[in-house]
Amino acid sequence: MFPSVIVVLLLISLTCGENPAIQVILNNKGLQYGKHVVAGWIQEQLELITLPDISGHIDIRIFGTVDYTLTGITVTKCDFPEPSVEFFQDAPGFKTSTLGLNVAITGGWMTHYGLIHDHGSFNMAIFSVDVTSVVNLGKDSNGHLSVTSVSCDARVGDVDIQFHGGASWIIQHLVDYFKGHIRSEIEGKICPTVEESILNLECNLQAMNVSFDVNQDLTIDLALTGTPVIDASSLNLGLKGEFYSIKSHAEPPFGAQPFTMPKQQGYMLSVGLSEFTLNSASYGYYSAGLLQVSINDSMIPPSSPVHLNTSSMGPFIPQLPKLFPGLQMSLTVYARELPLFSFQPGAVELGFQGAVKAFAIQSNGTQTPLFKLNVDSKFSSKVWAADGKLKGSLKMDNFTLALVTSEIGSFKTDALETIAKMGTTLLLANLNEKLGKGVVLPRTRHAQLVNTVLEVREGFIAIFSDAQVLLADGGFI
Ligand SMILES: *[C@@H]1O[C@H](CO)[C@@H](O)[C@H](O)[C@H]1NC(C)=O
Ligand SMILES: *[C@@H]1O[C@H](CO)[C@@H](O)[C@H](O)[C@H]1NC(C)=O
Ligand SMILES: *[C@@H]1O[C@H](CO)[C@@H](O)[C@H](O)[C@H]1NC(C)=O
Ligand SMILES: *[C@@H]1O[C@H](CO)[C@@H](O)[C@H](O)[C@H]1NC(C)=O
Ligand SMILES: *[C@@H]1O[C@H](CO)[C@@H](O)[C@H](O)[C@H]1NC(C)=O
Repeated sequence: MFPSVIVVLLLISLTCGENPAIQVILNNKGLQYGKHVVAGWIQEQLELITLPDISGHIDIRIFGTVDYTLTGITVTKCDFPEPSVEFFQDAPGFKTSTLGLNVAITGGWMTHYGLIHDHGSFNMAIFSVDVTSVVNLGKDSNGHLSVTSVSCDARVGDVDIQFHGGASWIIQHLVDYFKGHIRSEIEGKICPTVEESILNLECNLQAMNVSFDVNQDLTIDLALTGTPVIDASSLNLGLKGEFYSIKSHAEPPFGAQPFTMPKQQGYMLSVGLSEFTLNSASYGYYSAGLLQVSINDSMIPPSSPVHLNTSSMGPFIPQLPKLFPGLQMSLTVYARELPLFSFQPGAVELGFQGAVKAFAIQSNGTQTPLFKLNVDSKFSSKVWAADGKLKGSLKMDNFTLALVTSEIGSFKTDALETIAKMGTTLLLANLNEKLGKGVVLPRTRHAQLVNTVLEVREGFIAIFSDAQVLLADGGFI
């Protein structure tokens, strides 16, 4: 019986791959913008590069073999037409075509014909170069994006070569022999070069980390959960999007629910963030015992009417100043249950079920337990993007206090609840002032998000945005 159970479990784990908690979608608008930026960059790079030497030999029927080397080849002019890039469902991946590239190059030539060495310079124009490349996007076993070349096709329309110096008049004479040879020599070098750069890209992707420490307590796993999904107008990457406690690395007792991102072709990018991502962060802190704070009077603003000492608590707990006169107090606030976020259309809701333990601080430093209260509260918040910033507001929907245990006898919690609500409301007002100012949307040195829209939907947050690449001195460096 057991083997069959194991087989069933294996099948389930194989067929029900985990749901991505983060979806990143590149729309055609983004692909075309990216292509435009990269094409501009390539155009600039082409005019800066020195090409590798080209060597070979030509068999000339009656003379025998002439060895030649073209060296110090630099591009003098490059007419680089904007390539076309499209999502390619058959691969699935991208199909890139550059049609009608013209390049003028210059360099030196050397020939060896038996013992005769000769050299000079040359100018060459390469006309109507067409390159079409199809790459496949996939996922490796570690969740990296992988890219492989599926096909590459290169055609060189024509070459025109002028030789100068040495016995160039002989060579120029043989240009008809040379031409076809050099044309196919160049043609043959294009695809291996393209494939090499794809391999290079693949190596860089393999070397990338798919998990990152966000602070000293949490790490986020951004491995791909499945192969990229490509249709005619977009590329969808599903990422794990799970936070873990660095200390415990414990898996939460809940999983990511599937969600469907709405199509928004008008934006370059869309990002969907499931409530699971936020809840895994909450679980990471909770499971590591980090959802706990100690509060003492030094943290209460001096202007507050109530202070954390036994006499100040007299109006709420009449017996306290009599039992422990003139002592400072401290509170330990912690989460009783895992705080869970819930994304509802237009709002993010958070339930917090906590407890407060109160202590009197004796003059010798000993903390004497006084009582324990349960605090149940609910918050809801609105989040939006405006002026390149992420903004929000938070409000308290419910707040109740209940006495659980007491070392100093029973007391009514109504007045305490009122004052705690007031305190929390003040804290929220403070926080809302900061949230209203907003935090700048994530950006890098080379790119920033513009025209960003954020919508809270059932179970996930959808972010739609355009991006702007900031090229420093025309380069990515
Ligand atoms: C990848 O992660 C490892 C371990 O966390 C770290 O040492 C390394 O610097 C990271 N590499 C990059 C490129 O971030
Ligand atoms: C209050 O807490 C702060 C920070 O935890 C600590 O430095 C300070 O000594 C505490 N004060 C008292 C009276 O316990
Ligand atoms: C207790 O707090 C009150 C203000 O509520 C303050 O006037 C008093 O000095 C404090 N007592 C001690 C012992 O810190
Ligand atoms: C600290 O003082 C309290 C009250 O005076 C006493 O009960 C307790 O035993 C003392 N603790 C130590 C470690 O001296
Ligand atoms: C507030 O919480 C209390 C206790 O959990 C509950 O009885 C009450 O219905 C809640 N009120 C609202 C408005 O949610």
